[in-house]
Amino acid sequence: MTAISFIHTDTNLDSFAPRLLDWFAENGRHDLPWQQHQTDTPNPYIVWLSEVMLQQTQVTTVLPYFARFMESFPTVQDLAAAEWDMVAEHWAGLGYYARARNLHKGAKQLVAVIDETGDFPQTLAGWEAISGVGPSTAGAIMAMGLHRYGVICDGNVKRVLTRWAAIDGDITKSATTKELWALAERLTPRENSGLFAQAMMDMGATLCTRSKPACLLCPLQDDCIAHAQGRETNYPVKAKKQPKPSKFSNALLIKDVDSNTLWLQRPDNGIWGGLWSLPLEFIKKIEGKGSSKTSAEESQNKDDTKLEVASNEKVYETEFTTAEQIINEWLDKNNLAAAPINKTLIDDAPIKHSLTHFHWYLTPQSVTLNNEQAAEISEALQAAQININWLNADDAQATLGLPRAMVKILE
Ligand code: ADE
Ligand code: SF4
Repeated sequence: MTAISFIHTDTNLDSFAPRLLDWFAENGRHDLPWQQHQTDTPNPYIVWLSEVMLQQTQVTTVLPYFARFMESFPTVQDLAAAEWDMVAEHWAGLGYYARARNLHKGAKQLVAVIDETGDFPQTLAGWEAISGVGPSTAGAIMAMGLHRYGVICDGNVKRVLTRWAAIDGDITKSATTKELWALAERLTPRENSGLFAQAMMDMGATLCTRSKPACLLCPLQDDCIAHAQGRETNYPVKAKKQPKPSKFSNALLIKDVDSNTLWLQRPDNGIWGGLWSLPLEFIKKIEGKGSSKTSAEESQNKDDTKLEVASNEKVYETEFTTAEQIINEWLDKNNLAAAPINKTLIDDAPIKHSLTHFHWYLTPQSVTLNNEQAAEISEALQAAQININWLNADDAQATLGLPRAMVKILE
């Protein structure tokens, strides 16, 4: 593994903790009820409980809940022994109920560890094995709850560090996560990692806030790169989840007089390579285009958006297989148009099929050919080396190994 190199000099990196700790001593909060940095006998239960509560909730909201929990469940044994309904009642209003479930389950796991070993877990891995405890919470408990060595890298820390070191990577990507953890480790002092963790949390929550960082009061302002550039709020970089694009196709049920349907074997490259499919006709939305819509906007648009054949759109044109092109031209030449099977399906309920990279809305359409026409199109396709089959729905399902979306259409 290659060592991660940091943009800051060793001088900056080495002075980070002392600067932060000086600031914390002077200006930090030292009266939060779960803080354990002023005692020689830290209580891991208190740190674990408060950290889980603080995972997605602000300090001011957590304070009264924490007080009520400590009153009703002063030890981890009390919490483990409590009825779920009691725990839920105490949690009501804090949100993210999975956290309360994990807390209750975690209390039971902790009691099991204590019964077996005589004490709370003493290692990072031991804490990470507890429900609801991730790497950063485990680091916080090691550092603040046991006064051992522990590193934290939660959302607050990531915000501070991406700004201080101008880390441009998307923080939802694992490469960026690794870089941030490496930096957090480099900055955390071997001694006093608990005090350092508490100071980082405090500074992230009170100075380096999301929308209005108080840089002029910040112990890091002299070498904070984002601050020097006046780009504090550009960090952290977090890519918005792109909604999956949607594609729309007609699926043509071309029938002969015996109600057999024409099936095509798709080319090996591209979607459904080598599988059997109905001929598809890609269509596009006329309105509500654009790739950066939210899915909410997208579903809102769906109902009042008209669909039209995309003969002029390169992107869809390239998705026509040779067979589909032959079929389309042949239908055109013979003045045959496939008609919607069911009006309702066309207007608002095409068959939806989701693939890895897009949602596919398929609208079945049908056209019936006489014997002469069926023979003609068969010949045209076979002349182009395309494998075809005329089969009724049951036989097609039984013998062709159809993709899921095709089965949905038959059903
Ligand atoms: N956010 C998460 N943990 C915290 C703590 N111990 N103090 C203040 N804010 C926090
Ligand atoms: Fe955050 Fe401003 Fe401090 Fe930089 S100088 S770490 S942006 S508060």
